Amino acid sequence: MAKLLGLTLMGLALAFYRNHQSSYQKRLNAFREVTPVELPSCHLVKGIEAGAEDLEILPNGLAFLSSGLKYPGIKSFEPDQPGKILLMDLNEEDPAVLELEITENKLDLPSFNPHGISTFTDEDNVVYLLVVNHPAFKSTVEVFKFQEKEKSLLHLKTITHKFLPSINDIVAVGPESFYATNDHYFADPYLRSWELYLGLAWSNVVYYSPDKVQVVAEGLDFANGIGISLDGKYVYIAELLAHKIHVYEKHANWTLTLLKSLNFDTLVDNISVDPVTGDLWVGCHPNGMRIFFYDPKNPPASEVLRIQNILTDEPKVTVVYAENGTVLQGSTVASVYKGKLLIGTVFHRALYCTL
Ligand SMILES: *[C@@H]1O[C@H](CO)[C@@H](O)[C@H](O)[C@H]1NC(C)=O
Ligand SMILES: *[C@@H]1O[C@H](CO)[C@@H](O)[C@H](O)[C@H]1NC(C)=O
Repeated sequence: MAKLLGLTLMGLALAFYRNHQSSYQKRLNAFREVTPVELPSCHLVKGIEAGAEDLEILPNGLAFLSSGLKYPGIKSFEPDQPGKILLMDLNEEDPAVLELEITENKLDLPSFNPHGISTFTDEDNVVYLLVVNHPAFKSTVEVFKFQEKEKSLLHLKTITHKFLPSINDIVAVGPESFYATNDHYFADPYLRSWELYLGLAWSNVVYYSPDKVQVVAEGLDFANGIGISLDGKYVYIAELLAHKIHVYEKHANWTLTLLKSLNFDTLVDNISVDPVTGDLWVGCHPNGMRIFFYDPKNPPASEVLRIQNILTDEPKVTVVYAENGTVLQGSTVASVYKGKLLIGTVFHRALYCTL
């Protein structure tokens, strides 16, 4: 009897393991290979060698990029260098990359580890840059004022909150207010493994303002990129390991109601909303295995999707760019300006293309 019970338990454990293996491989889309989709003219951006994990382009063509992310378990080409915020002026013919100096800071620059970024421009045209930072694997949001003439960032404040233990991306809705996606990735190595391997859908979305902080969505399998529609009525959230983009209606009290979800065959990372058309441009990882288990001989691919008419019954999804990692590894974000596409990556380079 004991022997039978033992065998049954072993069988159950094996079944659980097999099930879990397959769901883990499915969540990481482990068997996907890309079919190349090229653009007429692309070149790698000089001066970006260690990632441009997130980027945002202002309506005047100035682009901010976060570079040098140190992400537990993920490749870094500059593991001993602090992260930085870079600036490009996309009005230039061959835009140069400039590192923005951080001034008057109470920041510990050697441990600066920038991740998601977002800008907010107020009615006096002051540009605030909000940056998710992971000093010593904690999570903070750093608020900077952009000083265009000086080409510098004036550090204004550091925001931390118990509802923001492990932030991935933010979208600013005021100089000190934002929506943030939260996972467990930076908070705790054990929780990280559970989140990654078991898919317990522990991620949430938090609205933060100086007077109110609230959870506005939860139960997500690694909430990642977040964006807001041009009219400010909808919030888009990428659920990385479920391969979904969710559309939420945003209410006056900042809560969100789920309207619809779109499914993809790729790990959807950052979302940029096209400032002219309102289309979504999404940086994706076709095969997540290659991102989380880096092998230079079999590098992670890059893929950029464009989603048009997302609110209608028939959104149009186009693969705008796809490449097996020989040129560009691990795309996270893509954004457009005047017929050009700028693509960033977790730890590799950035690509600038003509559409
Ligand atoms: C926020 O507003 C929505 C829509 O008006 C409402 O359904 C919801 O109950 C409100 N939630 C809170 C917490 O006030
Ligand atoms: C990727 O594609 C390039 C060009 O199409 C090809 O030469 C290369 O062998 C491919 N690499 C892998 C790892 O599939």
